[in-house]
Amino acid sequence: MFDEIQFEKIKRLPKYVFAAVNELKMAERRAGEDVIDFSMGNPDGPTPQHIVDKLVECINKPRTHGYSVSKGIYKLRGAVGGWYRRKYNVDLDLDREVVVTMGSKEGYVHLVQAITNPGDLAMVPDPCYPIHSQAFILAGGNVHRLKLEMLEDYRLDEDAFFDNIETALRESSPKPKYLVVNFPNNPTTATVDLSFYERLVELARKERFYIISDIAYAEITFDGYVTPSVLQVPGAKDVAVESYTLSKTYNMAGWRVGFMVGNAKLIGALEKIKSWLDYGTFTPIQVASTIALTDDQSCVAEICDVYRRRRDVMIKSFENAGWPILPPRASMFVWARIPEQLRSMGSLEFSKKLLTEGKVAVSPGIGFGAYGDEYVRVAMIENEERIRQAARNIRKFLKSSES
Ligand SMILES: Cc1ncc(COP(=O)(O)O)c(C=O)c1O
Repeated sequence: MFDEIQFEKIKRLPKYVFAAVNELKMAERRAGEDVIDFSMGNPDGPTPQHIVDKLVECINKPRTHGYSVSKGIYKLRGAVGGWYRRKYNVDLDLDREVVVTMGSKEGYVHLVQAITNPGDLAMVPDPCYPIHSQAFILAGGNVHRLKLEMLEDYRLDEDAFFDNIETALRESSPKPKYLVVNFPNNPTTATVDLSFYERLVELARKERFYIISDIAYAEITFDGYVTPSVLQVPGAKDVAVESYTLSKTYNMAGWRVGFMVGNAKLIGALEKIKSWLDYGTFTPIQVASTIALTDDQSCVAEICDVYRRRRDVMIKSFENAGWPILPPRASMFVWARIPEQLRSMGSLEFSKKLLTEGKVAVSPGIGFGAYGDEYVRVAMIENEERIRQAARNIRKFLKSSES
């Protein structure tokens, strides 16, 4: 019935690659198998107690039960401003340059909806967090993929990246209006230094495109690495916005709180579209999020340390199992090149095989873009004991695939 009515937008979205691995994982579990699951970026730890306590205190006040404020309550926007001042020495206008979002994904998708005209072109790295490209497709735009290459220590190969941007600006039609950057990067864990943003802001001002930066993993860094913000660059607010989330740093993924800050024109567009779409995150969640950003930050160091210890266990035990991987400098992921003898099968087949034969679930790199196909993403969301168990499974799996 109604075959002539087609949903063109939905048809432009590719099939979700991760669904194939998810379905297999469920089937294994239903069959009673113990699958060690590194496939999602969903933090496994609890939200710090003082944040939960604030939520409970606030939810017991009936006046917090109504609609909230779409752009975020003033106190939370103030806490966001304080976070940027403390961490990056950046001052924000709380009314014009800050919007609270229902997680950074919601903010990103709606910003892109608000600013994309039909056929607009955006430059998005490949591989990338899938919504970074698909949001433009959903909004009726198009995407120019920029190959993301890294140096040995997971630092972005900046020269290669800028070459790719300049080629896109020179050769693409229409000329790209937007560039998405995400460092520390999901899935590759690639990092940049402030000099990268200095160069980028200069180029964006000259060539006239907007930068949309996502620093979801800003606080999950190791070995002394500190995540820079594009907004630290003088004049960046003319061309850039940046999003952050409480999901990862405070183990608050289910709460759905984040924020976007920076260029007043883009932030105004996001605020306006959100004012039509939502009534804001539930007030008790916003109040507890204010506490998360302003109270004692020792929980952040503790959460980061959990990931660092897991990273160290994973790198060492996987190497002993026959899968050497360089340690990342940031994020909750390890971006692992598929062992050479199995690389030619591609990341989807490798992930399926590792799951069915090794009982370890990872995300195939192809799900993040064509250039990810020699890799899998391993999320550090299982504890150290489970990581060691996974390494034992992997050792057996690699041995049996040799024969
Ligand atoms: C790079 C990146 N941005 C945004 C998000 C989404 O975060 P949120 O929970 O704030 O929507 C994720 C989640 O995995 C992510 O990896």
